[in-house]
Amino acid sequence: MPGLTAPSDYSKEPPRHPSLKINSKEPFNAEPHRTALLSYITPVDFFYKRNHGPIPIVNDIERYCVSIGGLVKNPLEISMSEIRKLPKYNVIATLQCAGNRRTEMSKTRKVRGVGWDVAAVGNAKWGGAKLADVLELVGISKHTSSSPLGGKHVEFISIDKCKEENGGPYKASIPLRQATNPEADVLLAYEMNGETLNRDHGYPLRVIVPGVIGARSVKWLDRISIIEDECQGFFMQKDYKMFPPSVNWDNINWLSRKAQMDFPVQDLGLAQTLQNCLLCLNPSAGPLKDFQLKKNTVLIQSHSEAFGLSAICSLEDVDFVKPGKVTIAGYAVAGGGRGIERVDISVDGGRTWFEAQRCQRGNIPYQSDDLNNDKWAWVLFKVVVDVPESTVIIAKAVCTIAAIVLMNITIIPTDVFNSYLLAYLLLVDTASNVQPENVEVVWNLRGILNTSWHKVQVRRASQVAISNL
Ligand code: MTE
Repeated sequence: MPGLTAPSDYSKEPPRHPSLKINSKEPFNAEPHRTALLSYITPVDFFYKRNHGPIPIVNDIERYCVSIGGLVKNPLEISMSEIRKLPKYNVIATLQCAGNRRTEMSKTRKVRGVGWDVAAVGNAKWGGAKLADVLELVGISKHTSSSPLGGKHVEFISIDKCKEENGGPYKASIPLRQATNPEADVLLAYEMNGETLNRDHGYPLRVIVPGVIGARSVKWLDRISIIEDECQGFFMQKDYKMFPPSVNWDNINWLSRKAQMDFPVQDLGLAQTLQNCLLCLNPSAGPLKDFQLKKNTVLIQSHSEAFGLSAICSLEDVDFVKPGKVTIAGYAVAGGGRGIERVDISVDGGRTWFEAQRCQRGNIPYQSDDLNNDKWAWVLFKVVVDVPESTVIIAKAVCTIAAIVLMNITIIPTDVFNSYLLAYLLLVDTASNVQPENVEVVWNLRGILNTSWHKVQVRRASQVAISNL
């Protein structure tokens, strides 16, 4: 691509903040100290950096442009200045690496991948054009699942040289349905926190796919291609897939799982709610296979709870504290734009729980179903409590699952309905098994999506040690 080049070595890396904890030097992967995550907007310097190759260089921004092709009638090359002329949107969204909290998972059983503490996540204000607007320029209307030429996915191709792609560029795709939905807020972003993107975060242009694992938010965008099937790149097909704990490197079948998008729903309640609903509608239904829905049936209108991901950032995994009040604060994040219903804290190792205060901007209390929420953004929580003795402190987030409503259904054949229901049961089964109190139940060989409860040990410092705190 004119104007943008990809070095083959690490001699021209950008400067970085010296306080970052470097998890791998080449490619550069680093996260800030936990306490950097206690402000709602994460400063660019302290935003985690996740790379798979040397950072590309812009030689000439005037010549830089993105080509849009594939299954479109009128392919296009669009320059940076043309992108900047499109309506600009600012979206506050949390970006989280699927490998966040991998180090903790690795303590249970070793996993492969860069080790991350709890800070491979950050919340930023991303500014740019909506992908839905850009795709209209090549003749794909809003809310389209299949382009006139049969395209169903949008592939983003970068320019960086990644070992995993045999020296080729990083790439990923999202469904066309999501890309053309303006409400999904998928951006071609050129700003981060009101400033021009820096090199580490994708200058001059990157994709931001809110609510989805960071791996799909491709940096240093070179090409967009409308394709029939999902992108076949390494990071879609041979990485970032969630496997159950029984799968190891000898029996893994990559084709058996879909590419991970959303953070998983960690739900206990949903399967139960669906079962209850079935029984309500038809108490004599017996086994699911006998069940049939009739015309205009509202299947279910429920408000269920699911577990998101939260982490305590005001304390280390093992922390010595002075007698008196302790601040327990951190972030809670749910995939897919779901809200955070509660953050529960325990200071007695999980025997009793109480609710933490939640907020997004300022100190305005957060309510999960409020229209003013930044729906793609994390929620910060805080509580100040007396912790009388050495103990284990736990945080767990409960996120909201939207109501599931099926209306105006003529007749759903039993098998179709059953597969619909089954899809949900499987979702619950494969994504979370059970409430992930312990990391063992979500353990997977790549160490991704560690949504287990975050536990820290607090030790009362002895009088001798106190003077050193
Ligand atoms: N895009 C390119 N071109 N190359 C990459 O290595 N890493 C992905 C994604 N986009 C990556 C990329 C991953 S795994 C994550 S988590 C996010 O970028 C990290 O974005 P950040 O470095 O801006 O925090």
